[in-house]
Amino acid sequence: MPGTVCAAAVALVGLAACSQGLDPAGLADPASCEGCHPDQVREWAGSMHAYAADDPVFLAMNRLGQRETGGALGDFCVRCHAPFADGRDVESLPRAERGVTCVACHQIAEVVELHNGGLRWSLDRTMRGGLGDPVETPAHASAYSPLVDTAALGSSAACGACHDVVSPAGVAVERTYAEWSESVFARDDVGLSCAGCHMPGRDAPAARGGPTRRVHDHGFPGVDVALTPWPGVEVQRDAIARDLAGVLAARLCAIPAGGGVRFDVTLDNVQAGHAFPSGVTHARRAWLHLVAEEAGVVVRELGGFAAGEIVPLDDPDGWVLGSRFVGVGGVEVPHVWEATGIESALLPPAVTLDPRDPAYYHAVTRSFFVAGAPDVVRIVVKLQPVGLELLDRLIVAGELDPQVRAAMPVHELAGTETEWLRARDGWGCAP
Ligand code: HEC
Ligand code: HEC
Ligand code: HEC
Ligand code: HEC
Ligand code: HEC
Repeated sequence: MPGTVCAAAVALVGLAACSQGLDPAGLADPASCEGCHPDQVREWAGSMHAYAADDPVFLAMNRLGQRETGGALGDFCVRCHAPFADGRDVESLPRAERGVTCVACHQIAEVVELHNGGLRWSLDRTMRGGLGDPVETPAHASAYSPLVDTAALGSSAACGACHDVVSPAGVAVERTYAEWSESVFARDDVGLSCAGCHMPGRDAPAARGGPTRRVHDHGFPGVDVALTPWPGVEVQRDAIARDLAGVLAARLCAIPAGGGVRFDVTLDNVQAGHAFPSGVTHARRAWLHLVAEEAGVVVRELGGFAAGEIVPLDDPDGWVLGSRFVGVGGVEVPHVWEATGIESALLPPAVTLDPRDPAYYHAVTRSFFVAGAPDVVRIVVKLQPVGLELLDRLIVAGELDPQVRAAMPVHELAGTETEWLRARDGWGCAP
């Protein structure tokens, strides 16, 4: 590890420094950070950033895409899931270069394009971060960068370069960055960057033996969990449940209607700085589960999918959030490389703080009729990170191990659990 760079380090800071100094190749390996940054390494190792090039669904889709396009897909998928692959086969990359590694963020020199991994990395000895007054270390140089500072709005562009996908045919496949930049959170007076929400802070040393500072969680829980044995899966699951609990607010109101009751369900995206769901919405499914009872008997159920059952985007009776790809002539097509368009049903984020602006109210309401005289109605929103429909296509194509299907979770958004009781709430809304 200590090569020619080390010789220079000896001249500058002496021999002790040399024993710890890392050259750019050493700095590319997350394992070499562990001795000094154990928390960041442990949290990152359990994150989807670490898993990005090991994820069996990603690998299966990439293989199928290569096969179906005769290789024309090239490194399109790999450039965000393993940005340093440099044309090598993603499946045989050494551990140190798999996934979104430390330097994929801490050595971003420039955002070249706001999608498709449009980043330029320095790949030098300098770690960019938000400290401003870092303690010197022989291991690496440190520098302030607004691209890696949770408090700087511009840091969202660094995340956004990867969290915004435009397909080779020009279809906006993932729009998380675009959604954020149109939201109220991207405004200077509100000012919440991606990392500002996704990397909660706590007080601890940033490096072993260093001063106490505001440090930031590197687990990046979203909705996906590792589907194969992986460190930190339980920690991720708990963090996902915590973050999903409050993302939506739900309201359930009863209105008399001929021969029964109309229930108005309102879902409000209150905490996400972008649409909900976001990201790979063509694969993702979120839905309303509603159960109505009369005298202890279920008289109507929507979205009551059994474990292992496919959640269709077109559930004529229910309410399913997600997207579909369309191809030439507007017909639905399964894969991104065939798509010429995308149709989405998502919950938008807040776009204004002005109550007089018609866009202020961004919640979405749908009505459901229940015949008879129901006395209890319960609702909750559920989410599956990657729908089983897509997994089945990959299994049939021979690219995905069927065991992965059984590992795909369904999350419940605890904060949306609402119960209407006729005796308590009458013609009105559940508390
Ligand atoms: C020999 C110990 C050591 C090793 C090994 C080490 N670092 Fe550091 N690092 C430090 C110290 C000390 C600081 C400054 C901490 C402070 O000021 O509180 C630091 C600061 C940082 C910062 C913040 C920079 C800033 O200005 O905001 C980042 C990012 C960072 N290190 C990343 C890494 C990565 C990635 C690796 C592995 C490739 C690594 N470090 C390896 C000791 C080390
Ligand atoms: C997805 C981008 C991303 C990845 C990957 C990433 N970091 Fe960070 N890291 C950040 C951001 C953003 C901050 C917050 C900077 C700030 O606001 O001060 C940060 C902060 C830090 C700090 C300063 C202390 C703290 O927690 O705020 C250290 C040290 C650090 N990271 C080390 C690492 C190491 C080691 C790895 C790999 C194991 C890594 N990071 C991977 C984005 C990333
Ligand atoms: C080099 C590209 C890259 C950068 C930069 C990057 N990400 Fe990611 N991120 C990914 C990829 C790829 C995944 C998905 C990995 C997987 O599940 O296969 C991901 C996953 C995530 C997830 C989990 C998503 C889920 O479905 O569970 C969150 C949250 C996230 N990133 C937030 C951020 C934030 C915030 C930043 C900026 C501080 C950032 N990312 C920077 C590529 C990147
Ligand atoms: C105002 C806070 C906030 C901001 C700003 C924000 N997010 Fe999120 N994000 C959330 C919440 C809350 C969730 C839902 C909870 C979860 O998935 O863990 C979420 C979910 C996600 C997910 C999981 C995918 C999904 O379907 O929900 C990804 C990926 C993500 N965010 C990336 C980003 C990126 C990239 C940015 C910046 C461009 C960003 N977020 C800005 C709060 C925020
Ligand atoms: C611009 C960067 C980028 C490109 C290009 C890209 N992805 Fe991703 N991918 C991401 C990010 C960021 C996420 C995490 C966001 C989320 O989960 O919503 C993700 C998530 C995924 C997921 C869901 C999580 C998982 O792994 O199960 C799959 C599958 C996936 N990508 C496959 C692909 C395939 C196949 C391609 C090529 C056709 C591709 N991606 C191209 C950035 C990219």
